[in-house]
Amino acid sequence: MTRFDPERMERMYGSPPIAEQRARTRAALAARPGERGLDIGTGVGFLACELAKEVGAAGHVTGIDLGEELVDAAREKARRSGVEDQTTFKVGDATSLEIADGSLDFVAAVQVYLYVKDIDRALREAARVLKPGGRLAVVDTDWDSCVWLTSDRARHHRIMEARVQEFAQPHLPPMLPRLLQRAGFALKSVEAIPVLNREYDPDSFSGGIIDITAKLATKFGVEAAEAAAWADDLKSRTAEGEYFFSVNRYLFLAARR
Ligand SMILES: C[S@@+](CC[C@H](N)C(=O)[O-])C[C@H]1O[C@@H](n2cnc3c(N)ncnc32)[C@H](O)[C@@H]1O
Repeated sequence: MTRFDPERMERMYGSPPIAEQRARTRAALAARPGERGLDIGTGVGFLACELAKEVGAAGHVTGIDLGEELVDAAREKARRSGVEDQTTFKVGDATSLEIADGSLDFVAAVQVYLYVKDIDRALREAARVLKPGGRLAVVDTDWDSCVWLTSDRARHHRIMEARVQEFAQPHLPPMLPRLLQRAGFALKSVEAIPVLNREYDPDSFSGGIIDITAKLATKFGVEAAEAAAWADDLKSRTAEGEYFFSVNRYLFLAARR
């Protein structure tokens, strides 16, 4: 699996389109003061810290992630954000939550299930830890929804097809309604959330994934020179009107039956 760099995540996930995605995720979850929640694959803890402010001092938000350095960065963010006392960050796996049955009001899983091979087990775990009626928000991407202006579309498609092979679930969103139902959830709503970048900026979401995309494509059969040419083309698009990127995230809100 990709190793996530806390500093790069801090820059990319602090950018306006991703902050807007979190605002919509929080609006869907509608956390109330005093509630207890979990953020699966919390990364550097953006969403968990924001949710902790919503549940307040009487509530609690736990964030789990596979990466120890991410968990450390999330704890640091909680300290800086003044929510240290109402958050817990620890290393943990989406498919094996060390949390009591029926103990939570809400669970969030944002851009994490695409990395999880046993998705049925991960969704059953989310259902297990929720109270009846508890809410689950899942945000995930289908990379078929990606539009990226490039000088060579055939090359671009080879790169993207190779890159998505690294994901355990590259096309999860269209399958989620059925998977959620099977795991014991009632689907409440689905929204598309576009991430749109109209300028090349290395700290934007798309600017931040160019190098890692090129690198991963070479792992799955693309020649290094072709991947480098694809990346150089995108990074050279600095003049007005020369850069365009968009991908859809899909936000699912479900309730445990
Ligand atoms: C794309 S990042 C998203 C981070 C965060 N949810 C956000 O949106 O800011 C994916 C995160 O999921 C974590 N992750 C991947 N597989 C996981 C698993 N099986 N259990 C828990 N976390 C996982 C990664 O370490 C990484 O931090």
